Amino acid sequence: MSSYKIIEHEYDVVVLGAGGAGLRAAVGLSEAGLKTACISKVFPTRSHTSAAQGGISAALGNMGEDDWRWHMYDTVKGSDWLGDQDCIEYLCKEAPRAVLELERYGVPFSRTKDGKIYQRPFGGMTKNYGNETVQRTCAAADRTGHAILHTMYGQALKHNTEFFIEYFALDLLMKNGECKGLIAWNLNDGTIHRFRAHITIIATGGYGKTYYSSTSAHTCTGDGNAMVLRAGLPLQDMEFVQFHPTGIYGHGTLISEGVRGEGGYLLNSKGERFMERYAPKAKDLASRDVVSRSIAVEINEGRGVGKEKDHVHLHLNHLDPKVIEQRLPGISESSRLFADVDVTKEPIPVVPTVHYNMGGIPTNYKAEVITVDGSEKTVPGLMAIGEAACVSVHGANRLGSNSLIDLVVFGRAAAKRAAELVKTGTPHEEISKTETDKCLYRFEKLRNGNGENRTADLRLAMQKTMQSKCAVFRTEKTLKEGVQEIRKPFEGMDSISVKDKSLIFNTDLVETLEFDNLIRQAIVTIDSAYERKESRGAHAREDYPKRDDNSFMNHTLSWCKGSETKISYRPVHKTTLSNDVQYFPPQERVY
Ligand code: FUM
Repeated sequence: MSSYKIIEHEYDVVVLGAGGAGLRAAVGLSEAGLKTACISKVFPTRSHTSAAQGGISAALGNMGEDDWRWHMYDTVKGSDWLGDQDCIEYLCKEAPRAVLELERYGVPFSRTKDGKIYQRPFGGMTKNYGNETVQRTCAAADRTGHAILHTMYGQALKHNTEFFIEYFALDLLMKNGECKGLIAWNLNDGTIHRFRAHITIIATGGYGKTYYSSTSAHTCTGDGNAMVLRAGLPLQDMEFVQFHPTGIYGHGTLISEGVRGEGGYLLNSKGERFMERYAPKAKDLASRDVVSRSIAVEINEGRGVGKEKDHVHLHLNHLDPKVIEQRLPGISESSRLFADVDVTKEPIPVVPTVHYNMGGIPTNYKAEVITVDGSEKTVPGLMAIGEAACVSVHGANRLGSNSLIDLVVFGRAAAKRAAELVKTGTPHEEISKTETDKCLYRFEKLRNGNGENRTADLRLAMQKTMQSKCAVFRTEKTLKEGVQEIRKPFEGMDSISVKDKSLIFNTDLVETLEFDNLIRQAIVTIDSAYERKESRGAHAREDYPKRDDNSFMNHTLSWCKGSETKISYRPVHKTTLSNDVQYFPPQERVY
């Protein structure tokens, strides 16, 4: 191992990931005067935040009355009462300030006639505690994530964040249960780098690529989550995988919920607006889990469209073409490119597609990673934000447009907390060579793989298993089969083949490292799903159709060593942070 020459770096804080959360944290850290590095395996503006379309939620009240408490209620209900209400309170209360900061940083939001930030309706967003729809989702046409990402990258450069671009992080440097930084591989020149930091912030996004069909980019491999598992720490609520109702049939490309926000609707093969039956009040703007399940039922009962009757139609051809041009240019282009559809004339063929991971690295609302050892305790030196984290504000199901706001509110919170914890220039502790070698051992073993299994084949096997055994609807039988099947591609890694042994832009090795990260998350996802014997949010068990608050109003914690998992639970927080709002007790969830 020691054959690698290690290039040393010392920073106050290292941020891993340059999506919306990572960049927002980096800006805050640099503004606070902390020496900050941001490490990313892709160029920052290619991060997956750029794919976020419809918008960012905040109770600004630009289009009529709104209140952050209504936003909080909707988020608690959307989470199917699995979200921690203290954290949700923080998110919704801080949201307006966080969006106005984005405006000040230069995000080019769409505007109302009187120059305010334009807000559109989105699924599950209401006023007066569920009584009327509200326009709460702030939009930059249907390219909101793209706008935020570009603006925040510019701000990070302006504030002198130091970027390490096209560096692939291998593992965390842990010492006596504390995080001391990480080891990364520079894809450009093949060098190995040791980053020592007082705080490491993981902002590596979700792990949608465990599934065959997802709206996620190929880079969404949850690298930080897997690093946390390898560090012997748990992930939380991994069974909650969101299917977006409207991925383009056959491609998975996202068609924003903003389409339904602007008046689009779904039809089955009989020409019925079937959502009226499943969600009489909210209809096409019910929360995502409800709409995805309704589409799945329509298809399963033979009312799907197309030759195979395996998808439905999303219509927006009744909308004013000017509205489409101004507010939905991105999805018009994707529909033309991927479905050969002119949205002003024809419906878009859509199907529920994996979109978001509610689960991830457990944190408190200050973005500090927590572990559970009897009671909750923080892991010194380690924070997580964005989709990689599970705060938990989304609980069992995230509302559309609550992801972008999660990125910026908790990115900002992480920077604030780090500035309280770290005095700039504090010397770094020594890290033994053994700690560094441990990180390089796995890298070296995979690089030298000379077996008969191709990474692409193992990945496909994993994706097919997840897609069929851990789907929109789940049963004891499918999950049990899945629990067994998913271990096969993991075992297949023992005889993996990496043909390219070089260290420079070795995509064969990158994909193998990413697969190693994905498969661990796939295992804890399906094992956690098997153990949760109730239906809640995105986790729909046909054999346990009801939510069971007595036994399962708990977060799942999952550890993984090899393919062995340990599952345990921690109670959902039932308190609020301030007296400005009361705890919302569980109710039946209807839209
Ligand atoms: O549908 C969308 O525009 C996606 C938004 C989100 O996932 O928050």
